Amino acid sequence: MKEVITIRDKQFELFIEQEIIEQGIKRIAGRINSDLKGKDPIFLAVLNGAFMFAGELMKEVSIPSEITFVRLASYHGTSTTNRVQEVLGLNESIEGRSVVIVEDIVDSGNTMVALKKELEKYHPREVKVATLLFKPAALRQKLPIDYVALEIPNDFIVGYGLDYDGYGRNLKDIYKVK
Ligand code: IMP
Ligand code: MG
Repeated sequence: MKEVITIRDKQFELFIEQEIIEQGIKRIAGRINSDLKGKDPIFLAVLNGAFMFAGELMKEVSIPSEITFVRLASYHGTSTTNRVQEVLGLNESIEGRSVVIVEDIVDSGNTMVALKKELEKYHPREVKVATLLFKPAALRQKLPIDYVALEIPNDFIVGYGLDYDGYGRNLKDIYKVK
């Protein structure tokens, strides 16, 4: 893999290799398998960012479960907007279900708080949060996060599903802005 890459106008340096990412995912999958055993959970992966994380996570989930994909608000450039749109594409009923939100990253936490609030309208039994990445220093909300694969400092990153201006989602390692 390349140590330094260019996406649009920015340079990024290699930060977390695939092997380390996948170790983190395996670890939380193990916890999900024991915590949610017998609960028939439905995983709700948030597009676009969570697609790669969701694929890897589900390979490690061994309990009976469903997965579905939803889409929400946009993110522009390198700063978070507070704009969160409605949840699109949720065709399954989550009433009385154990729901696990599968997200790429919790940054300010605004997106996750809004999504959880929106999902409560459908009366799930419980809503848990699984995120590939978490930036503790950026969190601006009181938000319990059940499963964190990797904690990172407050840097802008790309790869493993995360983008800069739409690009870089395909990278199998994670890069941070230089
Ligand atoms: P939050 O609402 O501030 O927690 O931001 C959540 C969303 O912002 C994530 O789902 C990502 O789409 C995006 N985001 C936050 N930090 C980064 C980053 O470092 N790289 C790419 N996208 C990010
Ligand atoms: Mg996202």
